[in-house]
Amino acid sequence: MPTEHQTGSGSPTPEPGTPTSDKRRSWETQWQQRAGADFQWYLSEPPPELVELMAREDLPGGGALDLGCGPGVATASLASRFSPAVGMDIASGAVSEARALAREKGERASFLVAEAPLLPFRDRSFGLVFDRGCLQAIPRNAWERYFREVERLLVPGGMLQLYVSKAAREFPPLLSARGVRLRLKWLKGKRGPQFVSPDLIRGLLSGSMRELELRQFPFRVAGGKLRNVTYGLFRKD
Ligand SMILES: C[S@@+](CC[C@H](N)C(=O)[O-])C[C@H]1O[C@@H](n2cnc3c(N)ncnc32)[C@H](O)[C@@H]1O
Repeated sequence: MPTEHQTGSGSPTPEPGTPTSDKRRSWETQWQQRAGADFQWYLSEPPPELVELMAREDLPGGGALDLGCGPGVATASLASRFSPAVGMDIASGAVSEARALAREKGERASFLVAEAPLLPFRDRSFGLVFDRGCLQAIPRNAWERYFREVERLLVPGGMLQLYVSKAAREFPPLLSARGVRLRLKWLKGKRGPQFVSPDLIRGLLSGSMRELELRQFPFRVAGGKLRNVTYGLFRKD
């Protein structure tokens, strides 16, 4: 169902005609240097909220799109319930790995290289858009367009499941000058653990999108650093 930029080879070199940008080059380089499992954000299993969603009886029908699919763990899982299941990533290295994983798991999924917020699909192509970590990689001034695009792609009753995270600022030990200084700043509201604010997301949601769930939780990545996740589940009227 992709309308353009679909790649068949999964080669690490961008194919002619695929969009390029500094961000694209940067992600492509990262994916050439390591496998999905070596990134800090890697999960070997789909996140619990997706597992829970897939068990719902009111799950929308039709296809599912995994935005910023990375190694394709979620795409393979989506393929067990949705058809078509499509994984999209800015980096062909990610798409290669995701395609191999779907094949290994015997799941039917298709993949393409494209750069959000440009989503090269027809209106109302999907019942579910899943995004763990893609929106946060897009410049803030393109977020409004991202939400408009997601709304355009969803069928009525379709859902967006979104995880957007930020590195948490962890304080140095209390018994250090810096530790005291930073805590004072935090008390004055000048700095502290940061989340993408739910109100920011609410303000950007397009007209027909309704909030089913919007909450925040911490997530410790491999290597121990803490990230603050803003998690949302939304349904299109
Ligand atoms: C934090 S990783 C998450 C990967 C995967 N969703 C997961 O949860 O394992 C973000 C992914 O988004 C991709 N990405 C970054 N910017 C993108 C964009 N503008 N459009 C599409 N994919 C993008 C990256 O290549 C990377 O694979």
